[in-house]
Amino acid sequence: MIFVSSIPQTSADFEIEAPQRRSVVTVERAALVVLSVLLLASVSALIGVLSVNRPCLLKSAAKEEETKTTSTSAVPTYPNNVAQCGEDWELHGIKCYYFSPLSAKLPWKESRKMCQKLKGDLVKIESREEQMIDNGDKFWIGLTDSEAEGQWVWTDGSPLNSSLAFWFANDDNKEPDNWTVEDPEGEDCARMGEHPFIEGLKWWHDRSCQKKQRSICEKTAKILQA
Ligand SMILES: *[C@@H]1O[C@H](CO)[C@@H](O)[C@H](O)[C@H]1NC(C)=O
Ligand SMILES: *[C@@H]1O[C@H](CO)[C@@H](O)[C@H](O)[C@H]1NC(C)=O
Repeated sequence: MIFVSSIPQTSADFEIEAPQRRSVVTVERAALVVLSVLLLASVSALIGVLSVNRPCLLKSAAKEEETKTTSTSAVPTYPNNVAQCGEDWELHGIKCYYFSPLSAKLPWKESRKMCQKLKGDLVKIESREEQMIDNGDKFWIGLTDSEAEGQWVWTDGSPLNSSLAFWFANDDNKEPDNWTVEDPEGEDCARMGEHPFIEGLKWWHDRSCQKKQRSICEKTAKILQA
């Protein structure tokens, strides 16, 4: 399973030690500071040339006070005793995800009921990062056009944002295609999965809501006082 949280990094990645204050700054000390800055500037210029992708190094080199950078992690994590999801749920950021088991494939409506019984709902994809949730299978997500044909809405009633739509498309096939071969009523429910690494992030298909699938439920984590 791959996951990158949509929550941005916090500034807690930097630990800044308090600079030592001196009442008298000598000429020598000033010269030393200037020389250090020049040295750091040339080092950072070199680093900049060698690796353009590491702007944080340049930034910290320019600082006059001692700065200690600690390794950063893209996903801020809460310890399990602070953010809680409950058994069988996975915590990412402040959201909890439940991947229903292979043995419990259900039609879309029943999948939604199952999620609600677990105090959540079918997942709503709100970012590219969230779209990267994957454990290699196909899952119902909380998106349907069963109320009004062609108008895709999330279970919370919000319309699908077309810049955050990840319908599958290749030369032969463009989703949603409302295929009527399996179900004469067409396809009104959205399923995530299939060829994730071939077609990048675009892997939603519309499917007959009667099809039995696994599903991803989502709920907000319970945040306890530290
Ligand atoms: C999908 O197919 C059904 C059945 O043919 C049809 O009633 C419906 O209007 C179609 N939806 C769209 C968005 O074309
Ligand atoms: C749709 O998503 C884009 C990209 O995240 C965002 O900039 C835009 O504000 C969203 N539009 C609406 C109507 O929410």
